[in-house]
Amino acid sequence: MSQSTLISNLIEKGWFYQENFFTNEVVDKLVKECNSRSFFKAGIGKCRSIDENIRSDEISWLTDNEYSDSVIKYISFIKELSNVFNRELFLGLNDYEAHFATYPVGAFYKPHFDNFRGKNNRVITVIIYLNQEWTDSDGGEICLYGDNKKILLNPTGGSILCFISSDILHEVLPTNKERMSLTCWLLNNKNII
Ligand code: OGA
Ligand code: MN
Repeated sequence: MSQSTLISNLIEKGWFYQENFFTNEVVDKLVKECNSRSFFKAGIGKCRSIDENIRSDEISWLTDNEYSDSVIKYISFIKELSNVFNRELFLGLNDYEAHFATYPVGAFYKPHFDNFRGKNNRVITVIIYLNQEWTDSDGGEICLYGDNKKILLNPTGGSILCFISSDILHEVLPTNKERMSLTCWLLNNKNII
C-alpha cells in the first residue's frame, strides 16, 4: 500500500479507495468465512432498532473469540492500519469493532454518517469488499456525498475504502446481486488509556 496516498487522500478529501488492494486468495478465504457465519438483521443507532426502510442488510459481528486464519490475519491488518493512523495523524485509536455484512438482492442502506462528531467513538471506517465478480449492472454501489458531487464506487472484491466516519455522508444503493463486505470502525475510546 502506498501509505502516503492513503494519508494524503484522507486529509484532502476525507476518503481513500483502491481496487485490488487484497489478492483473490485473501478475498476467497474471507468469502468462505463469511459464508460459514450466522447473520442477523442489522439495527440502527445506539439501540440498534431494526428499520428496513433505512437499512436492509444482515450482519455478523466479529467477537473476541475468532479462530479462523482469515479473520486473525484481518485483525492484524486492522491493528497495523491503526498504528499507521496513530503515527501519521495522531488519532489515538485504541480499539475497533467490525462486522461482515450481506445485502440480499434489493437491499440498501440509506444516506447516513457512521458517527456524529463528538457523539461517539468511531473515527475511521474501513470497508473491504468481497464480491469477486461485480459489474456496473449489479448496482449496490457505495455512494459518497462530497461537496456538490456524488462519488459512486463499485463493491468489487479486493477493494478497500477508508473514510473519516464523522465527515462522509454515504449510502449503499439497492443491489441487484447478493453483496458482501467486511466493515471495521477504528475507535478512539478516550477514557481508556
Ligand atoms: C455501514 C456502511 C457501506 C458498505 O455498514 O455503515 O455504510 O459499502 N456500509 O457496505
Ligand atoms: Mn455506514
